[in-house]
Formats: sequence, C-alpha cells, structure tokens
Amino acid sequence: MAKLSVGIIGCGPMGQSLAKGCTALQQVEIKAASDVNQELLDQFCSQFAAKGYADYREMIDSAGLDAAIVASPPFLHREMVEALADAGVHVFCEKPMAPTVADCDAMIEVCDNKDVKLMIGQVCRYHAIHSKVKDAVASGDFGKPLCMIVRRLGGGFGGIWRKEWRTKRAMSGGNLMEINAHEIDFMRWVCGEVARVGAVGVAHPDSKNDYPDAVVVTMHFRDGAIGSLHSSSISPISAYGGRVDCEGGSLHFPSIWGEGSGIHIKREDETSFIAASEIKVETPVTHELRVFFDSILSDETPPVTGKDGRAAVEIAQAAYLSIEEKRLVELPLR
Ligand SMILES: NC(=O)c1ccc[n+]([C@@H]2O[C@H](COP(=O)([O-])OP(=O)(O)OC[C@H]3O[C@@H](n4cnc5c(N)ncnc54)[C@H](O)[C@@H]3O)[C@@H](O)[C@H]2O)c1
Repeated sequence: MAKLSVGIIGCGPMGQSLAKGCTALQQVEIKAASDVNQELLDQFCSQFAAKGYADYREMIDSAGLDAAIVASPPFLHREMVEALADAGVHVFCEKPMAPTVADCDAMIEVCDNKDVKLMIGQVCRYHAIHSKVKDAVASGDFGKPLCMIVRRLGGGFGGIWRKEWRTKRAMSGGNLMEINAHEIDFMRWVCGEVARVGAVGVAHPDSKNDYPDAVVVTMHFRDGAIGSLHSSSISPISAYGGRVDCEGGSLHFPSIWGEGSGIHIKREDETSFIAASEIKVETPVTHELRVFFDSILSDETPPVTGKDGRAAVEIAQAAYLSIEEKRLVELPLR
C-alpha cells in the first residue's frame, strides 16, 4: 500500500508527540517538517528522518504532501490551515482549533471549498475514562443526562506552559480554549449542543495572563441538562475529574488520571467501580491520528470535525463574553 506523505508544522512538544504517533502507523510516512526554531527543526528532522523547512509555505509548495499536522500555537492555526487547504493538503489541526469563532469559520470554509479533510485534535475522545463515560451515557442505560460537572485544576503551569503565547488570549484562546477545549468538548460530546453559557472568573494578583486564571462556567444544554466546568491554574492542589448524574443513575469519576482513577457507577440498586487501568484503549494520540488518516484513505468524514472544534471555541468565547458583560450568553454567538 502506498503511504500517505505527511508534513508536520510546529516541532514543539505536541508536534513531537504527534510525530511519535505517526511512527506507530503503517499507512503514513513523515516526509517533512517545519519550524521557525532551526535547532528544534534539525533535531526533529534527524529523529524522524524528515526534510526540514524553516518556512512552512515552502514545505507546502515543494514537499508533495498528502496530509499535514498543524501543531503550532493556536493563533497561527488559521493561516496554516488555509495555506494547506488551498494546496489540496488534508489537515489534522491541534486544539484549540483557533482563538476565535471567526477564525474557525474561515478554516471550515476553505477546507469545504477545497474538499480536504479537516480533523481537530480533541484527543480526550480517545482517553479511557472520557470514552467510557460517553459510551455509558450514549448506551441509554442511565437515561437522559441531567447534570454534568467537570473540574480541571492545576497549581500554575511552569516549564513549557510559561511560553509567552500562552499568556495572551488572542494567541492561545486563554485557558478555556488552550486547556479546557478538551473538557468543553467532552461535556458537549456527552450532553449535546449548548444553548446558553454563563461564567464568572478571577485573576490571581501575580497573574501573567491577560485572561482570568480561575473560571466557573455553567452550560445549559439544548436537551435540558445543565453543566458546570471549574477551570483553574491557581490551584496548588490539582484535580481532574467530575460526574454525570442521569435520570436513572450516576457516573462519578473523581480522578481521570493517576493512581486510583476510575468510574464509580450507581444504577438502580447496583453499584460498581471500573478502574481506569481496566479500560483498554489504544494510545490516544495514535488513535486520533489513525482515524484521521483512515478517513482520508476511505474518503469519509473524520470523526472529530471542524464543526466540533468550532463548538468548543464558541462555548469558551461565550464564557469569556459572559465574564466581561456579566450576563448569560445565548448560542449561537452572533
Ligand atoms: N492535545 C493535547 O493534549 C495538547 C497538549 C499540548 C499542546 N497542545 C496544542 O498543540 C499546539 C502546540 O503546542 P506546544 O505545546 O507544542 O507549543 P510550543 O509553542 O511548545 O510549540 C509550537 C512550535 O511551533 C513553532 N512555530 C511557531 N511559529 C511557527 C511558524 N510560523 N512556522 C513553523 N513553526 C512555527 C514554534 O517554534 C514551536 O516550536 C497548541 O495548539 C496546543 O494547544 C495540545
């Protein structure tokens, strides 16, 4: 079978993780990579046997790519996706899709017009607990979801998280997009489309960010459920977990990762616990890439579309608007 030729734009930690994911797949070959950081690019190209380009447009013009992975900071996603789609190259773009809904709309339009696949890297759909909770609710065994709570808290992000672009909402989308695109996507995936968003936020006095560091978002889902997301980068006692209470039972996942993580289940008189370690999943990054490349080969719509990436951005943008204007914000945003 001829392999798909793949290029990677952005050779930072996420570009490297995605490149490793590609090496586990038979159907692709990493042909080229681009980064403005020459040292990083050289290192990446020698590790993955790729041809390096300082200018991603030159890579698009001369590398003969079938598909590309965009793993640059979010404010660059739009121009890169537009250039790739214009050249007829299928695109896997990291989350958040872009920092604004307007950018997402432009990206969807160009990919539709040029008939290229666009998948957004909402990788939590392939994580053990996220996917098990989704499957359980979708099975109907618990009845309709009524209330979903998710919290993702951390005590400030050091190291790679201190990059300048992450401190600016126009560049990263703020934590609600850059980090919580995952949780927002998870909540929408489980409970459906969101009708209305409310939020409150607070900044730490020493914050370097130009957006709130801790936010509580409420979501009113179109099908009647309610949701709450607690996002924080000022919580030295970190936490990542939540629960879904349905008409006929509850799924409680106090911690999604790490020792003891799993899902407590109560339905009618039955209680059970599924340890995360018992839920067998493919390495999530490899899984998301595999289904993206398969969608190209079978000419099908990728499982996580531009519409999905856009929806997470829209909910986060509505939450920031709610904080700024101290009101509930109706979706769709106008
Ligand atoms: N799925 C996940 O769980 C996950 C985790 C981390 C990051 N991400 C996402 O992946 C993306 C990248 O994150 P990161 O942590 O690797 O960021 P990063 O800033 O460490 O790396 C981005 C790379 O892009 C390069 N770059 C910047 N401008 C460029 C240009 N014009 N042409 C080519 N390369 C350019 C930078 O030099 C840098 O090496 C972001 O969208 C981020 O939100 C996703």
